[in-house]
Amino acid sequence: MRRLGPEQKALISGSFDAIADNLEALVADFYRRLFDAAPATRAFFAEDVDSQLEKMLRSLEFLIEALDRPEQLRDYARMIGKTHTDAGTLTGHFEVFVPVFTASVKAFSPDWSAAHDVAWPVFLEDVAAMMGFPLQA
Ligand code: HEM
Repeated sequence: MRRLGPEQKALISGSFDAIADNLEALVADFYRRLFDAAPATRAFFAEDVDSQLEKMLRSLEFLIEALDRPEQLRDYARMIGKTHTDAGTLTGHFEVFVPVFTASVKAFSPDWSAAHDVAWPVFLEDVAAMMGFPLQA
């Protein structure tokens, strides 16, 4: 992580722990929000949204667990970045993804704060950049 401080890492891990029991509902909520905000993204996903949810869920869990292992985080982000490039994902999709996913995490987090509002987009933008989709700061 280039821009995420230790307190922010703790916030990200903390909110992930808090929502762990609702993860599948959260990811389903995320896809509803994503397809509402950007219907064109629907075309990128296979019919079987459930298996897609599971992959994304496991992926996010791994990324958060790897927050203190930058090399592992970077290698993994590069690997899934290539899958996304091959699938035709664009930087513009991540511009939609970051605020939409943050809104879903917020909706399922009982003790969300202004600091979470900052930390989550920073985390997701850093991951996007490592995946090869750098967003404008
Ligand atoms: C931090 C953000 C994201 C993470 C962690 C993530 C994670 C993943 C993972 C783990 C896979 C499965 C890869 C594999 O099977 O090898 C995947 C597939 C995919 N993701 Fe993402 N994703 C993210 C953002 C996005 C965004 C913004 C889009 C834009 C629409 C997107 C579109 C896709 C597509 C099209 C596939 C392939 C689906 C398929 O072929 O079945 N992802 N993603």
